[in-house]
Amino acid sequence: MPLGAVRRVIVERSDPVLGRCRYVADLGGERVAYPMLVARRGDRFDAIVENRLPQPTTIHFHGLTLTEGQDGAGFEAIAPGASKTLRFEIRNRAGLYWFHPHPHGFTAEQVHAGLAGLLVVTDAEDAELDTALALVPGNRLALAVADARVELGSLRPYAPSAEDCLHGWFGNRALVNGALDAQAPVSNGWVRLQLLNACNARGLLLAFRDGEASVPFHLLGTDGGLLAAPIALEQVFVYSAERVDVAIDVAGRREISAVSLAFDPRHQARGGRLAHRHPTREHYPPLAAEKVCAPATTRDTAVFLPDGAELALFRLGVTGARGSAPPPLPAQISTLPEAAAAADAAPRRLRLDFDERLGFLIDQTPYQMDQIAFSVGRGAREVWELRNSPISMPHPMHLHGFGFRVLRRQGTFGPARRLASQSSGRLPTDLGVKDTVVVWPNETVWLALDFTLPEDAAFRGRQRYMLHCHNLEHEDGMMMLNYAVL
Ligand code: C2O
Ligand code: CU
Ligand code: CU
Repeated sequence: MPLGAVRRVIVERSDPVLGRCRYVADLGGERVAYPMLVARRGDRFDAIVENRLPQPTTIHFHGLTLTEGQDGAGFEAIAPGASKTLRFEIRNRAGLYWFHPHPHGFTAEQVHAGLAGLLVVTDAEDAELDTALALVPGNRLALAVADARVELGSLRPYAPSAEDCLHGWFGNRALVNGALDAQAPVSNGWVRLQLLNACNARGLLLAFRDGEASVPFHLLGTDGGLLAAPIALEQVFVYSAERVDVAIDVAGRREISAVSLAFDPRHQARGGRLAHRHPTREHYPPLAAEKVCAPATTRDTAVFLPDGAELALFRLGVTGARGSAPPPLPAQISTLPEAAAAADAAPRRLRLDFDERLGFLIDQTPYQMDQIAFSVGRGAREVWELRNSPISMPHPMHLHGFGFRVLRRQGTFGPARRLASQSSGRLPTDLGVKDTVVVWPNETVWLALDFTLPEDAAFRGRQRYMLHCHNLEHEDGMMMLNYAVL
């Protein structure tokens, strides 16, 4: 549905027993649940968000460059029963973006409940690629992959134990655009998939199979749109909140299954006593009738697969006669600008650590909502150095407000090292515009940032944004910081 057609977004609980929730878009008469939004670069959004949940909420458009007031980062949550107007213009590159709640302490529970929607932004370059691939209608798909705990055919409510708060909440089944056992019909030729990892915490090592055989594919784009040139691959890491855009030639095949391959997730942190206890949580009930934060200290092993376990995601059923071979992939697919690195400035160093009492920390500090960790100048170009401790976990670190480029990785071990096929220790996805980057245990990652904001009057004055881990249990566990652009 076109972004511009939405007049009102109702955030509601659809199942109070299991705590399932949904976004309902009101188009001024017609109402659509679980809306998928499409827009062209330059389109505007102007809608009222109505919170009908028993908890505060916000809507954050993940990946878009918005003002602090529109970013939905939880500085001003919408109280139960209250409304807020959202009004902005899309200034980002074409790509797959998404929207989800971001109220401090409730993000994991609300996203898990089903509050996550996709926003597909297109432009001329993006349309040109579809033409070059001779994509037939139905062969371009946008998919949000989440995982849930399913027992006897029914979803289990969100009730994380201390172990879940440490490692993240993992399910045992994949939900694709909200459906279990998802299957999509496609026609012979190229298929273009834009895929979001909407899991609370699970990393996906995405691959495709035809029976037992691996099906090669091409990486076209990442979080912030198309790469300069496609890269041929057989597997790609997609961590929580990351997106990939891929092309698969399905000609001559009947069925292709998408899986997350087994890998060592390098969860090196152990033994913390973390409780999912954010101060604001005490004032509001959980979404499900079942108590959130059950005192259990062990995990319900019947209904979860640990991070890194193989997981079936969805299937593509190929129909239609095998025609002529699909057209070749263009060598150049976008005019991706070079990373704007500050030549001489010293990098800004940020350390990721684990403390058995306090949990996961950025620069030894749990999140302080009223503090600004540091400020950057408007238009400044900086290099950030994110260093993860060896006793840690992979942290998908997400920056609000700006896309960035990955310059270099060092100290990478395990499965990521095996896939670091690009220059400077980088993974194939590091070549695109990113808003979320995984930092593996023991690894240091250097990012190039450009803090240029739109000239628009709305962006005048100080703008506060966030940097946080997008493992949502870590996010709610205070692995966040605020920074300001002056
Ligand atoms: Cu997808 Cu701060 O969020
Ligand atoms: Cu975000
Ligand atoms: Cu984390």
